[in-house]
Amino acid sequence: MNHSQGKTLLIGAGEVGRRLAGALERAGWGRVTVSRESGWDVAERASDEAPRLIGVREHDLAAVLERLSQIPRERLILVQNGFLEAVHGDLGPVTRGLIWFTSKGDFFAELTPSLFFGPLAVTLASALSSGALRAAAIDEREEFLRQMILKGVWNAVVGLPLAVHGVDLGTYLESHAEELHALTGESAAAASAHYGVSVSGEQALACLRETTTPIHWVRGGAKALAWRNGALARFGRAHGVATPVNDRLLRAVGYDPDDPPPPGP
Ligand SMILES: NC(=O)c1ccc[n+]([C@@H]2O[C@H](COP(=O)([O-])OP(=O)(O)OC[C@H]3O[C@@H](n4cnc5c(N)ncnc54)[C@H](OP(=O)(O)O)[C@@H]3O)[C@@H](O)[C@H]2O)c1
Repeated sequence: MNHSQGKTLLIGAGEVGRRLAGALERAGWGRVTVSRESGWDVAERASDEAPRLIGVREHDLAAVLERLSQIPRERLILVQNGFLEAVHGDLGPVTRGLIWFTSKGDFFAELTPSLFFGPLAVTLASALSSGALRAAAIDEREEFLRQMILKGVWNAVVGLPLAVHGVDLGTYLESHAEELHALTGESAAAASAHYGVSVSGEQALACLRETTTPIHWVRGGAKALAWRNGALARFGRAHGVATPVNDRLLRAVGYDPDDPPPPGP
């Protein structure tokens, strides 16, 4: 596809969606924005071959995938955080994004290039780069899985533990070193066992330290746990990897790590 002739159907124009679509527009792509109330007639039309860039949050993904069930998966781009398969099962030949920027209101920081894998990855990463957003395509599935685990462990730290301890990220990294080491170690082990690739706790910790300097002020929250710490606890149970730190943090906010995930599409 010629970048200047591309068009995206942006489903969910929130923080991530508007940043990605903005870069694509700077690269010459057109955009149709699909909100909860409008644009769905176009998005659901199988004859429209434009990529569907799905920028909704994790808990809204199942409903969106259901509405797009007639659209070939090759046209879908998913950018949600977390271990999506843990809730949604095999997603088929979609394009996946690991978003490595933080966007919150006027705040915007690129932590490292965002990574894409799947049929539209090269086209998308190239267009985003043209639109001044750092992005790269990954061509090997195993490497994507490794990168997904690094990002997944990152999300298991930059979230739930901060909420449980009531601290910002900088304070957590400095003052909770023992828990941090145990959390990254068991999370990397559980996810590695589940996806059949090898990421060590040290690699996950190094990634975390290298990418978080601009966002030490972040306070996290207990959100999307079924896709994050809850998914890691389930992976651990399925593969005989103990996850005591995830279990304790989840229980502290009233989430039972033995609960089944919410239903996928
Ligand atoms: N923000 C970041 O810095 C960041 C970084 C990396 C990854 N992520 C991940 O990116 C994903 C999106 O996060 P976000 O921060 O961009 O969330 P967000 O700002 O809440 O944006 C999500 C948008 O999707 C819309 N939406 C929900 N259901 C929809 C539907 N059925 N049809 C059309 N639009 C719908 C929401 O509309 P309503 O307002 O009506 O709900 C909202 O505008 C999450 O998985 C998040 O973890 C975010």
